[in-house]
Amino acid sequence: MAIQWFPGHMHLTRKAIGERIKDIDVVIELLDARLPGSSSNPLLAELTGHKPALKVLNKQDVADPARTPAWLAWYNARPGTSAIALDASDAAPARRLIDACRQLAPNRRGLSKPMRVLICGIPNVGKSTLINTLSAKREAKTGDEAGVTKQEQRIVLDDDFYLWDTPGMLWPRITVPESGYKLAASGAVGRNAYDEEEVALELLAYLKQHYAPLLDARYKLGLDAAAIAAKHDDELLELIARKRGAVMSGGRLNLQKAAEIVLTDLRSAALGRVTLETPAEFEAWLAAAEVQEKERAARKAEQLRRNERRTRNAPRDED
Ligand code: G4P
Repeated sequence: MAIQWFPGHMHLTRKAIGERIKDIDVVIELLDARLPGSSSNPLLAELTGHKPALKVLNKQDVADPARTPAWLAWYNARPGTSAIALDASDAAPARRLIDACRQLAPNRRGLSKPMRVLICGIPNVGKSTLINTLSAKREAKTGDEAGVTKQEQRIVLDDDFYLWDTPGMLWPRITVPESGYKLAASGAVGRNAYDEEEVALELLAYLKQHYAPLLDARYKLGLDAAAIAAKHDDELLELIARKRGAVMSGGRLNLQKAAEIVLTDLRSAALGRVTLETPAEFEAWLAAAEVQEKERAARKAEQLRRNERRTRNAPRDED
């Protein structure tokens, strides 16, 4: 699927992170617990190098509680990385963030060596909500010191614990097609960047395999899990359109409306708690995408060579 990102301030954010990172002890990446692999920014590792990382699987309240532990274990197994799950119902998230960061950088303590943390995350993972909770009882300090751009916000979480917020940053091109669909379904991507029907069909293809009882309960399909899984994705969307009265004059089904219903139900969790990928699935998608990327690079290089040969062999005007 060709998703048109609108990275907006991506370059500015990249620059701000690049400048800030040398004085940072821990990088917090806020992820969507419903897509903990796909919502991780592949540019971040490139920008932050080998700094200790805390992955926060946010919105855990709407993710599948059976899958979140597997994702936490997957991230915790990475060197220099810790992971915790969080959601907005946690009235005091600061303590959990502080404790997790202190474990990652135990030598940063006291006013002479304060802990300096950067928080990043793609749009819609709940970063503003978290920042608002964190800064509710504290005075949020905005760019009033040298090197702090207007895009950054500094929050003092403890006397010796500073948190810098960065604007949500996307990456220029999605190389894992499955991730593109999940990101679009979750609402991380602007509405104009994808086709809702296409995204809803991909979403249904996954849900019918893994969460058929939730589809049955939400849309009153009256089918068992095997019958739902056996349905073609188009058929399923048509059935949902019928059940939800998404019908136009003349009795034609309004599939666009049905797609919007499915996507809204996922985002609002009316569908129930789902996680759209497992670590094993995500690893397989990544591996396949890497092969594709290598083939793409090889094709590009070959094209370049061909063009050079053509230019070299072309008769010159003076000949
Ligand atoms: P962002 O800064 O990362 O872009 O995200 P933001 O905080 O604006 O949150 C995006 C949406 O996610 C908001 O819903 C917000 O209420 C919701 N959200 C944030 N944290 C959590 C959480 O832990 N659990 C759940 N279930 N939802 C969360 P919205 O519908 O876009 O806006 P609103 O109607 O709540 O204002």
